[in-house]
Amino acid sequence: MGAVLVLSGPNLQLLGVREPEMYGSETLSSIHDRLTDRGRALGVSIDARQSNHEGELVTWIGSALGACAGILFNPGAYTHTSIALYDALRAVRLPCVEVHLSHPDAREGFRRRSRIAPACIGRVSGFGGDSYLLGLDGLVAFLNRQTTQHEPSRG
Ligand code: DQA
Repeated sequence: MGAVLVLSGPNLQLLGVREPEMYGSETLSSIHDRLTDRGRALGVSIDARQSNHEGELVTWIGSALGACAGILFNPGAYTHTSIALYDALRAVRLPCVEVHLSHPDAREGFRRRSRIAPACIGRVSGFGGDSYLLGLDGLVAFLNRQTTQHEPSRG
């Protein structure tokens, strides 16, 4: 089926030490390892990256066109501010699942608005590192449905 681009935004390189009561104690590299294993079972390869820079995330989304089947995206705080990331997702028209370790809707008011949500097919939040895994399952199921629907009937 191809590759899934997994992007994590600012401060997520600090997972494991960053507010563990909020984000859990699992590191980002452990989440990436679990995604790679799960991707193998599902038949997709995983290209997982993290950046603290909005422009770099924009560039990676643009480069996914033609290279990836879909995107799993935790934009960190850029979730709530970035029109550039929203525009990038709209531009490539790749199916994107928004993921969060915490459940932003149950936190401060400023976290309740996601700028990227209107450019996503769905969202998983509140399950720590498992949010990424659940998001991958949902994204791959979506991609499988798309493939089946577009395939000519084999009678
Ligand atoms: C987060 C939620 C955001 O509100 C916050 O700014 C983050 C992490 C999460 O995964 O729970 O950096 O995206």
